[in-house]
Amino acid sequence: MEVIIKDTYEEMSIEAAKIIKDAIHLKPNLVLGLATGTTPIGTYKELIRMHQAGELDFSKVVTFNLDEYVGMPSTHDQSYHYFMHENLFNDINIAPDNVHVPSGVVKDFKRYCQWYEDEIAKVGGVDLQVLGIGSDGHIGFNEPGTSLASRTMVVTLTEETIRDNSRFFDRIEDVPRLAITMGVGTIMEAKHCLLVANGKKKAGPVAALVEGPITSQVTASALQMHPNATVIFDEAATSKLKRIDYYKWTYENRPEV
Ligand code: F6R
Repeated sequence: MEVIIKDTYEEMSIEAAKIIKDAIHLKPNLVLGLATGTTPIGTYKELIRMHQAGELDFSKVVTFNLDEYVGMPSTHDQSYHYFMHENLFNDINIAPDNVHVPSGVVKDFKRYCQWYEDEIAKVGGVDLQVLGIGSDGHIGFNEPGTSLASRTMVVTLTEETIRDNSRFFDRIEDVPRLAITMGVGTIMEAKHCLLVANGKKKAGPVAALVEGPITSQVTASALQMHPNATVIFDEAATSKLKRIDYYKWTYENRPEV
C-alpha cells in the first residue's frame, strides 16, 4: 500500500486529483469508481478546476458510484445521485449515459445488484476506484462484519454511520437504515484503489486500515491485500500511525517510473 501524507486537506485533494488526471490522460475512456461524502469534495473541486482550465476531458470517462441510500429517489437532495451531480457531474463534460450511480428505488434489488456488477464487467472493470473511509472503518457501505468477498448488495447501516450521516438531515430519524453498496470484493477488483481521509476523527480508522490486522471488522483493511492501493491522508488523520516517518521517507524516495 502506498501511503502519502500531505500537510493539509487541500494538498491531499490536489494529490488525489492529480492521480485521477494522470489516469485519464493515460486512458481517456477510464472506468472511474467514485465515492460520495465530505472527504472527496476537495478532490472533485480540483477535477472541475482542471477541466475548466482545459487540462482534463471527461467525454469518454465512464463512472460507477459505490453506493446509494435505499428508498431515496435520485431527485432527493440527500441522495448520492444528487450529490454527484452537485459536486462533480454538472461541472464537467461527462456523458450522462456514462454515469452509473446505483438506484435506491428498484423493485428487485437482488437482480439490480447483479445488473450493476454486470455493467461494471461489461466495460472491463473499474480502472481507478476513489474511496473514503467511515469512522467505523467501512469502505462503500461495507459495515463491520461484512464479508471481505462481498459483492454489490443491500446492507443495514450501523448506528455509527447513521449518526455520522445525520449531519446532512434535519432529524436522525430521516437517515435511511438501508443502503445499496458495491461489496468489498467488487471494490477489490478495481485495478487501482485510491482512498482519501482527513481530520483527526479519521485517525483511528486510518491506523486500523494501514497498520491493523486484516479483518471484516474494518472492511477498509482489505486494501492491505490489494496489489495497487494508494492512500492519501492529511497530517491530522495520521496521528495514530506508528510508522509515519517511514511512509514519508518512502514517498520522498519513490522511484520515478
Ligand atoms: C460514500 C462512501 C462512504 C464514505 C465514508 C466517509 O460513497 O462510500 O464509505 O466514503 O463514509 O464519509 P465522509 O467522507 O463523509 O467522512
